[in-house]
Amino acid sequence: MRGIVYTGDGAEVTDELGIGDPGPTQVKVSIQAAGVCHSDLSVINGTIPWKPPAVLGHEGAGIVEAVGSEVRSVKVGDHVVIATLASCGVCRACSTGHPSWCLSTLGNISFPFTYKGEPASNFAAVSVFAEQTIVAEVQVVKIPDSIPFTSACLIGCGVLTGVGAVLNRAKVRPGETSAVFGVGGVGLNVIQGLKIAGATKIVAVDNQPGKEALARQFGATDFVLAGEGIDSAKAVREAVPMSNEHAWGALFPLGGVTWAFDCVGHPAVLKSALDCLDWGGNAVAIGIPPRGTEVSVDINSLAYVDRGLLGCRYGSARPHHDVKLMVDLYQSGQLKLDELVSLTTPLEQFRDVVDAMHSGTVARGVLTF
Ligand SMILES: NC(=O)c1ccc[n+]([C@@H]2O[C@H](COP(=O)([O-])OP(=O)(O)OC[C@H]3O[C@@H](n4cnc5c(N)ncnc54)[C@H](O)[C@@H]3O)[C@@H](O)[C@H]2O)c1
Ligand SMILES: [Zn+2]
Ligand SMILES: [Zn+2]
Repeated sequence: MRGIVYTGDGAEVTDELGIGDPGPTQVKVSIQAAGVCHSDLSVINGTIPWKPPAVLGHEGAGIVEAVGSEVRSVKVGDHVVIATLASCGVCRACSTGHPSWCLSTLGNISFPFTYKGEPASNFAAVSVFAEQTIVAEVQVVKIPDSIPFTSACLIGCGVLTGVGAVLNRAKVRPGETSAVFGVGGVGLNVIQGLKIAGATKIVAVDNQPGKEALARQFGATDFVLAGEGIDSAKAVREAVPMSNEHAWGALFPLGGVTWAFDCVGHPAVLKSALDCLDWGGNAVAIGIPPRGTEVSVDINSLAYVDRGLLGCRYGSARPHHDVKLMVDLYQSGQLKLDELVSLTTPLEQFRDVVDAMHSGTVARGVLTF
Protein backbone atom coordinates (compact mmCIF):
# COMPACT_ATOMS: atom_id res chain seq x y z
CA MET A 1 0.00 0.00 0.00
CA ARG A 2 1.18 3.56 -0.77
CA GLY A 3 1.53 6.27 1.86
CA ILE A 4 3.77 8.84 3.54
CA VAL A 5 5.79 7.71 6.53
CA TYR A 6 7.62 9.81 9.10
CA THR A 7 10.91 7.92 9.39
CA GLY A 8 12.65 10.09 11.98
CA ASP A 9 14.78 11.65 9.22
CA GLY A 10 11.86 13.26 7.43
CA ALA A 11 8.91 12.10 5.37
CA GLU A 12 9.17 9.29 2.83
CA VAL A 13 6.70 8.41 0.12
CA THR A 14 6.55 4.63 0.12
CA ASP A 15 4.67 1.69 -1.35
CA GLU A 16 5.85 -0.62 1.42
CA LEU A 17 2.95 -0.16 3.88
CA GLY A 18 0.76 -2.97 5.10
CA ILE A 19 -2.59 -2.80 6.95
CA GLY A 20 -4.75 -5.41 8.72
CA ASP A 21 -8.50 -5.75 9.25
CA PRO A 22 -10.65 -3.54 11.50
CA GLY A 23 -11.39 -4.79 15.03
CA PRO A 24 -15.02 -5.17 16.23
CA THR A 25 -15.49 -1.43 16.94
CA GLN A 26 -13.27 -0.13 14.13
CA VAL A 27 -13.78 1.06 10.57
CA LYS A 28 -11.43 0.72 7.62
CA VAL A 29 -11.60 3.72 5.29
CA SER A 30 -10.29 3.97 1.75
CA ILE A 31 -8.85 7.49 1.69
CA GLN A 32 -9.84 9.63 -1.32
CA ALA A 33 -8.33 12.99 -0.36
CA ALA A 34 -6.20 14.42 2.46
CA GLY A 35 -5.31 18.00 3.32
CA VAL A 36 -1.81 18.85 4.51
CA CYS A 37 -2.03 20.64 7.87
CA HIS A 38 0.95 22.39 9.40
CA SER A 39 0.86 19.88 12.27
CA ASP A 40 2.05 17.18 9.82
CA LEU A 41 5.00 19.41 8.91
CA SER A 42 5.61 19.97 12.63
CA VAL A 43 6.09 16.22 13.12
CA ILE A 44 8.57 16.13 10.23
CA ASN A 45 10.57 19.11 11.56
CA GLY A 46 10.49 17.92 15.19
CA THR A 47 8.19 20.65 16.60
CA ILE A 48 5.68 17.93 17.54
CA PRO A 49 7.67 14.96 18.93
CA TRP A 50 6.44 11.64 17.49
CA LYS A 51 8.05 8.22 17.53
CA PRO A 52 8.89 6.87 14.05
CA PRO A 53 7.90 5.06 11.95
CA ALA A 54 4.43 6.62 11.76
CA VAL A 55 2.02 7.19 8.90
CA LEU A 56 1.27 10.93 8.66
CA GLY A 57 -1.89 12.86 7.81
CA HIS A 58 -4.90 13.70 9.96
CA GLU A 59 -7.26 15.69 7.70
CA GLY A 60 -9.00 13.28 5.37
CA ALA A 61 -12.15 11.92 3.80
CA GLY A 62 -12.88 8.64 2.11
CA ILE A 63 -15.17 5.68 1.55
CA VAL A 64 -15.90 3.02 4.16
CA GLU A 65 -14.11 -0.13 2.99
CA ALA A 66 -14.90 -2.51 5.87
CA VAL A 67 -16.55 -2.35 9.30
CA GLY A 68 -16.05 -4.34 12.50
CA SER A 69 -18.76 -6.69 13.75
CA GLU A 70 -20.15 -4.19 16.30
CA VAL A 71 -20.16 -1.09 14.08
CA ARG A 72 -23.68 0.27 13.51
CA SER A 73 -23.36 3.95 12.48
CA VAL A 74 -21.75 3.50 9.04
CA LYS A 75 -21.71 0.81 6.36
CA VAL A 76 -19.45 -0.17 3.48
CA GLY A 77 -19.64 2.44 0.70
CA ASP A 78 -20.55 5.41 2.93
CA HIS A 79 -18.65 8.65 2.34
CA VAL A 80 -17.08 9.86 5.59
CA VAL A 81 -14.95 12.57 7.14
CA ILE A 82 -12.48 11.28 9.75
CA ALA A 83 -12.11 13.16 13.05
CA THR A 84 -8.97 12.95 15.16
CA LEU A 85 -10.80 12.55 18.47
CA ALA A 86 -10.91 8.83 19.36
CA SER A 87 -13.03 9.75 22.37
CA CYS A 88 -14.27 7.07 24.76
CA GLY A 89 -17.88 8.26 24.87
CA VAL A 90 -18.43 7.36 28.52
CA CYS A 91 -16.18 9.63 30.62
CA ARG A 92 -17.28 12.87 32.25
CA ALA A 93 -15.73 14.98 29.45
CA CYS A 94 -17.52 13.01 26.75
CA SER A 95 -20.78 13.06 28.71
CA THR A 96 -20.73 16.83 29.03
CA GLY A 97 -20.08 17.45 25.34
CA HIS A 98 -16.33 18.02 25.52
CA PRO A 99 -14.71 15.11 23.68
CA SER A 100 -11.55 17.19 23.16
CA TRP A 101 -11.00 16.91 26.93
CA CYS A 102 -11.41 13.10 26.92
CA LEU A 103 -8.22 11.61 28.33
CA SER A 104 -8.24 8.86 25.73
CA THR A 105 -7.87 11.39 22.88
CA LEU A 106 -4.38 12.78 23.46
CA GLY A 107 -1.22 10.84 22.71
CA ASN A 108 -3.10 7.61 22.05
CA ILE A 109 -1.00 5.64 19.63
CA SER A 110 -1.94 2.42 17.90
CA PHE A 111 -0.22 0.34 15.23
CA PRO A 112 -2.64 -0.38 12.41
CA PHE A 113 0.18 -0.42 9.83
CA THR A 114 3.38 -2.17 8.92
CA TYR A 115 6.24 -0.39 7.15
CA LYS A 116 8.77 -2.65 5.46
CA GLY A 117 7.27 -5.50 7.51
CA GLU A 118 7.71 -3.82 10.94
CA PRO A 119 4.87 -2.26 13.02
CA ALA A 120 4.20 1.41 12.19
CA SER A 121 2.01 3.70 14.28
CA ASN A 122 -0.74 6.07 13.33
CA PHE A 123 -0.53 9.86 13.86
CA ALA A 124 -3.21 11.84 15.69
CA ALA A 125 -5.22 8.59 15.77
CA VAL A 126 -5.93 9.07 12.07
CA SER A 127 -3.15 8.61 9.42
CA VAL A 128 -4.80 9.63 6.17
CA PHE A 129 -1.62 9.91 4.07
CA ALA A 130 -2.20 6.30 3.06
CA GLU A 131 -4.51 4.53 0.66
CA GLN A 132 -6.36 3.02 3.63
CA THR A 133 -6.51 3.57 7.37
CA ILE A 134 -8.27 2.02 10.37
CA VAL A 135 -9.97 4.24 12.98
CA ALA A 136 -12.51 3.92 15.79
CA GLU A 137 -16.19 4.05 14.84
CA VAL A 138 -16.62 7.25 16.86
CA GLN A 139 -14.16 8.99 14.50
CA VAL A 140 -16.08 8.55 11.26
CA VAL A 141 -18.89 10.92 10.37
CA LYS A 142 -21.05 10.21 7.33
CA ILE A 143 -21.33 13.02 4.77
CA PRO A 144 -23.48 13.40 1.64
CA ASP A 145 -22.07 11.70 -1.48
CA SER A 146 -22.40 15.01 -3.37
CA ILE A 147 -19.54 16.79 -1.56
CA PRO A 148 -16.21 16.45 -3.41
CA PHE A 149 -13.71 14.53 -1.29
CA THR A 150 -11.06 17.19 -1.98
CA SER A 151 -13.26 19.75 -0.17
CA ALA A 152 -14.75 17.44 2.47
CA CYS A 153 -11.35 16.30 3.71
CA LEU A 154 -10.54 19.79 5.00
CA ILE A 155 -13.36 19.57 7.54
CA GLY A 156 -11.30 16.89 9.34
CA CYS A 157 -8.87 19.41 10.86
CA GLY A 158 -8.50 22.94 9.44
CA VAL A 159 -12.21 23.69 9.21
CA LEU A 160 -13.25 22.15 12.54
CA THR A 161 -10.26 23.76 14.25
CA GLY A 162 -10.75 27.25 12.81
CA VAL A 163 -14.52 27.61 12.72
CA GLY A 164 -14.81 25.69 16.00
CA ALA A 165 -12.41 28.04 17.78
CA VAL A 166 -14.78 30.91 16.95
CA LEU A 167 -18.15 29.22 17.52
CA ASN A 168 -17.35 26.72 20.31
CA ARG A 169 -14.44 28.16 22.27
CA ALA A 170 -14.68 31.94 21.86
CA LYS A 171 -18.44 32.00 21.19
CA VAL A 172 -17.99 35.26 19.28
CA ARG A 173 -21.11 37.44 19.18
CA PRO A 174 -22.38 39.77 16.44
CA GLY A 175 -20.62 43.14 16.46
CA GLU A 176 -17.48 41.92 18.18
CA THR A 177 -14.09 42.70 16.65
CA SER A 178 -11.19 40.40 15.89
CA ALA A 179 -7.67 39.83 14.67
CA VAL A 180 -6.41 36.61 13.10
CA PHE A 181 -2.65 36.00 13.10
CA GLY A 182 -1.63 33.48 10.42
CA VAL A 183 -3.73 33.18 7.29
CA GLY A 184 -3.14 29.47 6.58
CA GLY A 185 -5.57 26.58 6.45
CA VAL A 186 -6.57 27.17 10.09
CA GLY A 187 -6.52 30.99 10.03
CA LEU A 188 -8.73 31.21 6.93
CA ASN A 189 -11.29 29.09 8.75
CA VAL A 190 -11.12 31.30 11.81
CA ILE A 191 -11.79 34.21 9.43
CA GLN A 192 -14.82 32.56 7.87
CA GLY A 193 -16.04 31.45 11.30
CA LEU A 194 -15.85 35.08 12.45
CA LYS A 195 -17.87 36.17 9.43
CA ILE A 196 -20.52 33.53 10.21
CA ALA A 197 -20.59 34.70 13.86
CA GLY A 198 -21.18 38.31 12.78
CA ALA A 199 -17.85 39.92 13.75
CA THR A 200 -17.79 43.39 12.23
CA LYS A 201 -14.01 43.83 12.07
CA ILE A 202 -11.74 40.96 11.05
CA VAL A 203 -8.11 42.07 10.82
CA ALA A 204 -5.92 39.41 9.21
CA VAL A 205 -2.17 39.40 9.93
CA ASP A 206 0.40 37.39 7.97
CA ASN A 207 4.04 37.79 6.98
CA GLN A 208 3.32 36.73 3.38
CA PRO A 209 1.88 39.52 1.22
CA GLY A 210 0.21 36.93 -1.01
CA LYS A 211 -2.14 36.07 1.87
CA GLU A 212 -3.98 39.41 1.71
CA ALA A 213 -6.18 38.47 -1.25
CA LEU A 214 -7.04 35.09 0.33
CA ALA A 215 -7.81 36.68 3.69
CA ARG A 216 -10.17 39.20 2.09
CA GLN A 217 -11.82 36.49 -0.04
CA PHE A 218 -12.75 34.61 3.16
CA GLY A 219 -14.07 37.69 4.97
CA ALA A 220 -11.21 39.76 6.41
CA THR A 221 -12.00 43.48 6.50
CA ASP A 222 -8.37 44.57 6.94
CA PHE A 223 -4.89 43.13 6.38
CA VAL A 224 -1.64 43.77 8.25
CA LEU A 225 1.64 42.60 6.72
CA ALA A 226 3.79 41.33 9.62
CA GLY A 227 7.56 41.30 9.45
CA GLU A 228 10.87 42.52 10.87
CA GLY A 229 10.46 45.82 12.70
CA ILE A 230 6.68 45.92 12.29
CA ASP A 231 4.57 46.24 15.44
CA SER A 232 1.60 44.22 14.22
CA ALA A 233 -0.31 44.68 17.51
CA LYS A 234 -0.10 48.46 17.06
CA ALA A 235 -1.24 48.10 13.44
CA VAL A 236 -4.29 46.09 14.60
CA ARG A 237 -5.09 48.75 17.21
CA GLU A 238 -4.92 51.41 14.52
CA ALA A 239 -7.31 49.40 12.36
CA VAL A 240 -9.74 49.05 15.30
CA PRO A 241 -9.43 52.29 17.27
CA MET A 242 -10.89 53.06 20.70
CA SER A 243 -14.46 51.85 20.92
CA ASN A 244 -15.43 53.87 24.02
CA GLU A 245 -15.43 57.53 23.05
CA HIS A 246 -16.26 58.58 26.63
CA ALA A 247 -13.01 57.19 28.07
CA TRP A 248 -10.85 59.85 29.72
CA GLY A 249 -7.48 58.19 29.43
CA ALA A 250 -6.10 55.09 30.94
CA LEU A 251 -3.30 53.12 32.45
CA PHE A 252 -3.55 50.58 29.63
CA PRO A 253 -3.89 51.19 25.89
CA LEU A 254 -7.41 51.69 24.57
CA GLY A 255 -8.77 50.29 21.34
CA GLY A 256 -7.94 46.95 19.77
CA VAL A 257 -10.05 43.87 19.33
CA THR A 258 -12.37 41.69 21.40
CA TRP A 259 -10.82 38.49 20.06
CA ALA A 260 -7.34 37.69 18.73
CA PHE A 261 -6.48 34.24 17.39
CA ASP A 262 -2.89 32.95 17.12
CA CYS A 263 -2.96 30.54 14.17
CA VAL A 264 0.83 30.47 13.83
CA GLY A 265 2.23 28.96 17.03
CA HIS A 266 5.07 31.35 17.85
CA PRO A 267 5.47 33.15 21.21
CA ALA A 268 6.02 36.55 19.54
CA VAL A 269 2.79 36.10 17.61
CA LEU A 270 0.83 35.13 20.73
CA LYS A 271 2.32 38.16 22.48
CA SER A 272 1.09 40.37 19.61
CA ALA A 273 -2.33 38.73 19.93
CA LEU A 274 -2.39 39.66 23.63
CA ASP A 275 -1.10 43.17 22.94
CA CYS A 276 -3.79 44.03 20.40
CA LEU A 277 -6.72 43.28 22.74
CA ASP A 278 -9.24 45.88 23.78
CA TRP A 279 -10.39 45.92 27.39
CA GLY A 280 -12.39 42.75 27.95
CA GLY A 281 -10.70 41.04 25.01
CA ASN A 282 -9.36 37.48 24.87
CA ALA A 283 -6.55 35.88 22.90
CA VAL A 284 -6.99 32.31 21.71
CA ALA A 285 -3.88 30.12 21.30
CA ILE A 286 -4.42 27.64 18.43
CA GLY A 287 -0.93 27.38 16.88
CA ILE A 288 1.38 24.70 18.32
CA PRO A 289 4.99 25.71 19.06
CA PRO A 290 7.63 23.29 20.43
CA ARG A 291 6.84 21.88 23.89
CA GLY A 292 7.89 24.15 26.74
CA THR A 293 7.51 27.38 24.74
CA GLU A 294 6.39 30.22 27.02
CA VAL A 295 4.89 33.67 26.56
CA SER A 296 5.24 36.43 29.15
CA VAL A 297 2.49 38.89 29.93
CA ASP A 298 2.01 41.77 32.37
CA ILE A 299 -0.59 40.22 34.70
CA ASN A 300 -2.01 43.65 35.47
CA SER A 301 -2.86 44.12 31.81
CA LEU A 302 -5.16 41.13 32.24
CA ALA A 303 -6.42 41.56 35.78
CA TYR A 304 -7.37 45.25 35.66
CA VAL A 305 -9.32 45.09 32.42
CA ASP A 306 -10.78 41.61 32.07
CA ARG A 307 -8.44 40.39 29.37
CA GLY A 308 -7.72 36.71 29.02
CA LEU A 309 -5.81 33.97 27.26
CA LEU A 310 -7.50 30.73 26.17
CA GLY A 311 -6.14 27.61 24.53
CA CYS A 312 -8.17 25.76 21.96
CA ARG A 313 -7.70 22.22 20.77
CA TYR A 314 -9.36 21.01 17.59
CA GLY A 315 -11.94 23.80 17.70
CA SER A 316 -13.32 22.31 20.93
CA ALA A 317 -15.23 20.19 18.42
CA ARG A 318 -17.93 17.62 18.98
CA PRO A 319 -17.37 15.92 15.63
CA HIS A 320 -20.76 14.27 15.20
CA HIS A 321 -22.43 17.65 15.66
CA ASP A 322 -19.84 19.94 14.12
CA VAL A 323 -18.94 18.01 10.93
CA LYS A 324 -22.65 17.99 10.08
CA LEU A 325 -22.87 21.71 10.91
CA MET A 326 -19.96 22.42 8.52
CA VAL A 327 -21.72 20.40 5.81
CA ASP A 328 -24.94 22.39 6.37
CA LEU A 329 -23.07 25.72 6.29
CA TYR A 330 -21.28 24.62 3.08
CA GLN A 331 -24.46 23.49 1.39
CA SER A 332 -26.24 26.73 2.31
CA GLY A 333 -23.39 28.80 0.87
CA GLN A 334 -22.14 30.20 4.18
CA LEU A 335 -18.90 28.21 4.41
CA LYS A 336 -16.30 28.07 1.66
CA LEU A 337 -14.66 24.66 1.22
CA ASP A 338 -13.95 24.40 -2.52
CA GLU A 339 -12.15 27.77 -2.42
CA LEU A 340 -9.82 26.49 0.32
CA VAL A 341 -8.29 24.00 -2.11
CA SER A 342 -5.50 25.86 -3.91
CA LEU A 343 -3.56 22.82 -5.03
CA THR A 344 -4.49 19.19 -5.63
CA THR A 345 -1.74 16.70 -6.32
CA PRO A 346 -1.11 12.95 -6.19
CA LEU A 347 0.37 11.65 -2.94
CA GLU A 348 3.77 11.28 -4.61
CA GLN A 349 4.04 15.08 -5.06
CA PHE A 350 3.77 15.74 -1.30
CA ARG A 351 6.95 17.84 -1.46
CA ASP A 352 5.24 20.31 -3.87
CA VAL A 353 2.54 20.97 -1.27
CA VAL A 354 5.12 21.50 1.47
CA ASP A 355 7.05 23.97 -0.74
CA ALA A 356 3.84 25.83 -1.59
CA MET A 357 2.94 26.09 2.11
CA HIS A 358 6.35 27.55 2.90
CA SER A 359 6.13 30.05 0.04
CA GLY A 360 2.73 31.27 1.29
CA THR A 361 0.90 30.61 -1.97
CA VAL A 362 -1.75 28.13 -0.83
CA ALA A 363 -4.82 28.12 1.37
CA ARG A 364 -4.63 24.32 1.59
CA GLY A 365 -2.84 21.72 -0.51
CA VAL A 366 -4.68 18.42 -0.94
CA LEU A 367 -3.28 14.97 -1.74
CA THR A 368 -5.22 12.48 -3.83
CA PHE A 369 -4.76 8.71 -4.12
N1 LIG B 1 -4.85 23.63 18.31
C1 LIG B 1 -5.17 22.75 17.37
O1 LIG B 1 -5.99 21.87 17.59
C2 LIG B 1 -4.54 22.82 16.01
C3 LIG B 1 -5.14 22.17 14.92
C4 LIG B 1 -4.57 22.33 13.66
C5 LIG B 1 -3.40 23.07 13.50
N2 LIG B 1 -2.83 23.63 14.60
C6 LIG B 1 -1.63 24.46 14.50
O2 LIG B 1 -2.04 25.70 13.94
C7 LIG B 1 -0.94 26.31 13.27
C8 LIG B 1 -1.36 26.72 11.87
O3 LIG B 1 -1.63 25.58 11.08
P1 LIG B 1 -1.99 25.76 9.51
O4 LIG B 1 -2.21 24.39 8.99
O5 LIG B 1 -2.99 26.82 9.33
O6 LIG B 1 -0.57 26.31 8.97
P2 LIG B 1 -0.23 26.97 7.56
O7 LIG B 1 1.18 26.66 7.27
O8 LIG B 1 -1.29 26.60 6.57
O9 LIG B 1 -0.40 28.52 7.85
C9 LIG B 1 0.42 29.26 8.72
C10 LIG B 1 0.32 30.72 8.30
O10 LIG B 1 1.04 31.51 9.25
C11 LIG B 1 1.80 32.48 8.54
N3 LIG B 1 2.90 32.88 9.41
C12 LIG B 1 4.03 32.20 9.73
N4 LIG B 1 4.79 32.91 10.58
C13 LIG B 1 4.12 34.07 10.82
C14 LIG B 1 4.37 35.22 11.62
N5 LIG B 1 5.49 35.29 12.36
N6 LIG B 1 3.47 36.21 11.63
C15 LIG B 1 2.33 36.13 10.89
N7 LIG B 1 2.03 35.07 10.10
C16 LIG B 1 2.92 34.06 10.07
C17 LIG B 1 2.21 31.75 7.26
O11 LIG B 1 2.59 32.66 6.24
C18 LIG B 1 0.94 30.99 6.92
O12 LIG B 1 0.06 31.77 6.14
C19 LIG B 1 0.19 25.27 13.32
O13 LIG B 1 1.00 25.58 14.45
C20 LIG B 1 -0.55 23.97 13.56
O14 LIG B 1 0.28 22.99 14.18
C21 LIG B 1 -3.37 23.53 15.84
ZN1 LIG C 1 -4.29 19.67 11.77
ZN1 LIG D 1 -14.20 10.21 27.11
